[in-house]
Amino acid sequence: MASSVVKVEDVNKVYGSRKEASYQALDNVSFSIGEGEFVGVMGASGSGKTTLLQTIAALDRVTSGSITIAGTNVTDMKEKELTDFRARRLGFIFQDFNLLENMTVYENIALPLFLQNQKGGSVREEVQRAAGMLGMEDTLSKYPAMISGGQKQRAAAARALVHHPSMILADEPTGALDSGNAKGLLETLQHLNENHGVTIMMVTHDAFSASYCGRILFLEDGRLYKEMQRNGTREEFFKQILDEQAEAGKKKL
Ligand SMILES: Nc1ncnc2c1ncn2[C@@H]1O[C@H](COP(=O)(O)OP(=O)(O)OP(=O)(O)O)[C@@H](O)[C@H]1O
Ligand SMILES: [Mg+2]
Repeated sequence: MASSVVKVEDVNKVYGSRKEASYQALDNVSFSIGEGEFVGVMGASGSGKTTLLQTIAALDRVTSGSITIAGTNVTDMKEKELTDFRARRLGFIFQDFNLLENMTVYENIALPLFLQNQKGGSVREEVQRAAGMLGMEDTLSKYPAMISGGQKQRAAAARALVHHPSMILADEPTGALDSGNAKGLLETLQHLNENHGVTIMMVTHDAFSASYCGRILFLEDGRLYKEMQRNGTREEFFKQILDEQAEAGKKKL
């Protein structure tokens, strides 16, 4: 088994400190993600998907348990170190892509490098590399308002990986897209994973999006209750996921 990029051990997350007003969003969650995996996290609304992603992204603290990313335990890091760790080691794709309108595509992609005070020729080199991986060398000098929806997605993906993060984290990245663009983004993620070995964790409630993953973790009321590995085609996996969702729905009735 490849070395693990993420190791989550016995993680609990309780929101609110007063007992009667507290809510346990994550309940003893443990799993790991190996290098080069494309893992999906599924579950009903309120099951804890975003909470899990945010704790791994070190944007939110766990109540107990530990999270290790690329060998670094992020659970007991200080705020300042965390900010730095996040900027260096993680890449994010947001639902609305968050491209800055007054910057060119080139500058948007370069942003994670600027944040690390990287300058000069190495910035150009890294931006060219990331743009090349996504086939968008031709749009670098344009502004976001001048490019298509699909090109915006690819720019966001390039920005997420320009600084060689240990992994890319995405929360419902297809949530705001029509089906054609959603498919485009999923194919982009799949391409990065399969051809460039990029490790990805994607939160989604949608079976179609999830079917692009190699493995899916299912959450219910903050508990990880099932894992599913893709063995056959994407279409077969899609059906398996739909069946699992139907089962989970039945249990609730
Ligand atoms: N800051 C907070 N304070 C209190 N409770 C919170 C907070 N953030 C989330 N929760 C609660 O924790 C639970 C898990 O929320 P989370 O956002 O992780 O769900 P989710 O699976 O991402 O749902 P969705 O599919 O709707 O995005 C929910 O019941 C939510 O109300
Ligand atoms: Mg969410």
